Amino acid sequence: MRVAGKIALISGGARGMGAVEAGLLAREGAKVILGDVLDAAGQQTVADIQAAGGAAVFVHLDVTNEADWQQAVATAESRFGALHILVNNAGVSGHGTVEHTTVADWDRVMDIKAKGVFLGSKTAIPAMRRAGGGSIINISSQLGLVGVDNSSPQYQASKGAVRLLTKATAIQYAAEGIRANSVHPGSIVTPMTEGRRADPALYHLTLGRIPLGRYGESMDVAYGVLYLASDESAYVNDCWH
Ligand SMILES: NC(=O)c1ccc[n+]([C@@H]2O[C@H](COP(=O)([O-])OP(=O)(O)OC[C@H]3O[C@@H](n4cnc5c(N)ncnc54)[C@H](O)[C@@H]3O)[C@@H](O)[C@H]2O)c1
Repeated sequence: MRVAGKIALISGGARGMGAVEAGLLAREGAKVILGDVLDAAGQQTVADIQAAGGAAVFVHLDVTNEADWQQAVATAESRFGALHILVNNAGVSGHGTVEHTTVADWDRVMDIKAKGVFLGSKTAIPAMRRAGGGSIINISSQLGLVGVDNSSPQYQASKGAVRLLTKATAIQYAAEGIRANSVHPGSIVTPMTEGRRADPALYHLTLGRIPLGRYGESMDVAYGVLYLASDESAYVNDCWH
C-alpha cells in the first residue's frame, strides 16, 4: 500500500482522470474525498470505490467557490482526521482563437482552472500544516508548456498559470514539508476529449502529433499522481532557485 494512512482530496473527482486517480489512491490505502459539481456522478464514483473496499466520501465542490473549498477541507478533517494530499484536477476545455474568444469564455476557464487551483491550495495548506506536511498535485497539461493551434487562449493561459503557481507554492512551503508539483498530461481518453476524438480529422491530427502513437489512458496519469502523493516522492518538489 503506497499511500496507506493518507487522506486525499481530489477536485473534479466525479469522472475522467480524477475518478481514476481517486480509485487508485483508495486502492493504495488512502482515504479519499471527491469534490465535484457533478453530484450524481460523484456519488456513483464514491460507491464504486467503496464497493472495491476503499474509503471515500463525496462533497459538492465548485472550485471557484471559496466556501465550498472550506467545506471540503473541513470534511476531510472531520470524517478522516487530516488532509495530506490535494489533487487540483477539476477542469473544462475550450477551443478558439484569441480574437474569437469572449471575455465570458476567458473568465470561466481562468476561474475554474487558475483561480480554482489557487483557492484549493490556499484552503488546504493550513490543514496540511496541521497534519505535519502534505503534497499538492496540480494537473496542468502539455498545453501549459507549449503553444498549439487547436486549443484556446484561456485553456493554455490557465495551464501556464498553474505551472508557475505550482512553483511559487513549492518554494513558499518547502520548509514546512508541504510539496507542490504539476503534472502535464498529453492527450488522454476521458469525457473531456470525447468530442475531439469523435471528429475523424481532429482525431488523426492529434494522434499524428503523439510520438508514442496512441492516446493516453487515465491510469497512465494516475500512476504519476500516486507517486507524487506517496512518500516515494519525498524529495520531489517543483521549486528551483
Ligand atoms: N483529457 C486530456 O487530454 C487532458 C490533457 C491534459 C490535461 N487535462 C486536464 O486534466 C484534468 C481532468 O480532465 P479530464 O480529461 O479528466 O476531464 P473531464 O471533463 O472528464 O473531468 C473533469 C472534471 O472536472 C469537473 N469540474 C468542471 N468544472 C468544475 C468546477 N467548477 N468545480 C469542480 N469540478 C469541476 C467536471 O465536472 C469533471 O468531473 C483537467 O484539469 C484537464 O484540463 C486533460
